[in-house]
Amino acid sequence: MADSTRHPMTGNEMSGSSEGGMERHTYDVVVVGAGGAGLRAAIAAHEAGARTAVVCKSLLGKAHTVMAEGGIAAAMGNRWPEDNWEVHFRDTMRGGKMLNNWRMAQLHAQEAPERVQELEDWGALFDRTDDGLISQRDFGGHKYARLAHVGDRTGLEMIRTLQQRTVQLGIDVFMECTVTDLLKEGDRIAGAIGYWRESGRFITFDAPSVILATGGIGKSFKVTSNSWEYTGDGHALAMRAGAALINMEFVQFHPTGMVWPPSVKGLLVTESVRGDGGILKNSEGKRFMFDYIPEFFKAETADTIEEADRWYDDKKNNRRPPELLPRDEVARAINSEIKAGRGSPHGGIYLDIASRRTPEFIRKRLPSMYHQFKELADVDITAEPMEIGPTCHYVMGGVEVDADTQESAVTGLYAVGECSGGMHGSNRLGGNSLGDLLVFGKRAGEAASAYTASLGDARPAVSEDDVKTAQASALAPFEVEGGENPYTIQHDLQQSMNDLVGIIRTASELEESLREIEVFKDRAKSMVVEGHRQYNPGWHLALDLRNMLIVSECIAKAALARKESRGGHTRDDFPKTDTEVWGKKNLVVTLNAAGDGVDLAEKPLPVMPDELKKYFE
Ligand code: FUM
Repeated sequence: MADSTRHPMTGNEMSGSSEGGMERHTYDVVVVGAGGAGLRAAIAAHEAGARTAVVCKSLLGKAHTVMAEGGIAAAMGNRWPEDNWEVHFRDTMRGGKMLNNWRMAQLHAQEAPERVQELEDWGALFDRTDDGLISQRDFGGHKYARLAHVGDRTGLEMIRTLQQRTVQLGIDVFMECTVTDLLKEGDRIAGAIGYWRESGRFITFDAPSVILATGGIGKSFKVTSNSWEYTGDGHALAMRAGAALINMEFVQFHPTGMVWPPSVKGLLVTESVRGDGGILKNSEGKRFMFDYIPEFFKAETADTIEEADRWYDDKKNNRRPPELLPRDEVARAINSEIKAGRGSPHGGIYLDIASRRTPEFIRKRLPSMYHQFKELADVDITAEPMEIGPTCHYVMGGVEVDADTQESAVTGLYAVGECSGGMHGSNRLGGNSLGDLLVFGKRAGEAASAYTASLGDARPAVSEDDVKTAQASALAPFEVEGGENPYTIQHDLQQSMNDLVGIIRTASELEESLREIEVFKDRAKSMVVEGHRQYNPGWHLALDLRNMLIVSECIAKAALARKESRGGHTRDDFPKTDTEVWGKKNLVVTLNAAGDGVDLAEKPLPVMPDELKKYFE
């Protein structure tokens, strides 16, 4: 029987069937997630000739990519002609404290300029330099101003552009549809199963290639800049399908999130504020970042206000201001100032651009920040400082993939963007995520499409038993009586992760967090969902919680195992960076044999070739 699913934008019918009441579709490539990575992957797969679908939890255009405000890092050399991919590669590796997959960092630095140019060809309206070139702004850890931007709404413009192209190309989009399980035949991907959020009805996709582009895990933490969708779905789906995750101990706390009012605590305050000249001050009015310049970055960080200020106009003879150290360094410094009792009234620190730039400049370069603070906090950032504090922003860890193709250890399963791991090492530089989405989205789409084409008629088949098992597992919370509400478990998990696995970690707190996660897992077994399958947020959360629990365990376990401090992983009991031991390996996590916990292993880092090593000598 023909199914009547229609494209949300074009109204065209999306071919499928609904035999036995189960909606079913066949594609060559299914992309899970409609952020920058997912849309770029879908465009690439479609252009390579694959029948492609995008499946997303939210509405098209609502992806968390819109919250990446400051810009896309790409060594285009528009502001500083001396910029090039080698410098960008070097900055990225140093920002990640050398734990990055060198090949991914190289491809990213080499290909990002072309991907930005292509976005412009597709209609993105970037801000311009006086010469009419794409404008590029300063960000932490980048030697040169290299973030192509659209005010402080770059992610929004990127999504608008990619979405328009996706619709123009006629790519099928399944909105408000959540994927709950990947389906396999033997060791290969055969498809995916999910449900419509509105009706609660199941939907199955037959597809030999699935690209996970589901973003991050921030909703496991109480204070986060992440949107409601960031429940680690791709990470958990990949693990359950047999793939490995790497670097899960590295969680980025963006130095500047709103701290007030409580309803918006954690909301991102773009790094562009500092990139455009904003400075950090404590309650004594001191510009404290000069006290926190680490040895690793001393050579390139200004230690006087005069030199810091000269840097914006002359990067040749001056070193960058300490407010533009990589994010991990700035977040730790802010945390220390607050802990030392030098914080602001609402438990943050001050970010001041009002005393540094004119109101016209601020409103032109930072329009969203201006409105955000005016409307949400009644603060005029052109006249007074903002109160800000660290917020969980990004996970560097994700699915272990091949650098060139983004394929995981499971044949036909790809991961891209934040849900993949390796590119950013132990700490991501601001602006490198938007470049990452574009560069590796394209690569994943092309690789997935080529793989499906190579199969000819020998495509793996979805097993009906697996479909039934996945359905039963998703519906299990309806069968429980007298159990606990998923909201209370989520609340307790977020508080626990915030308190015990946050910016500064210790063995005893991490052990406690793992004990608590076991208790949450037990409580989740008897989680109960009231009502019916039709739009039922409690049920949706119950399913998301399975993913949040498994990724939280990955983070805590890896954090306990890594006995050093590096990037987005700071151990109070192991404060030093241990280059000799921990600088040479990644931690890899997989699902255990029983499927109810996490196994951990060590793996040597890929060896960087000599022609790249020279940049670090
Ligand atoms: O601060 C920001 O605008 C965020 C950008 C990013 O995370 O890359």
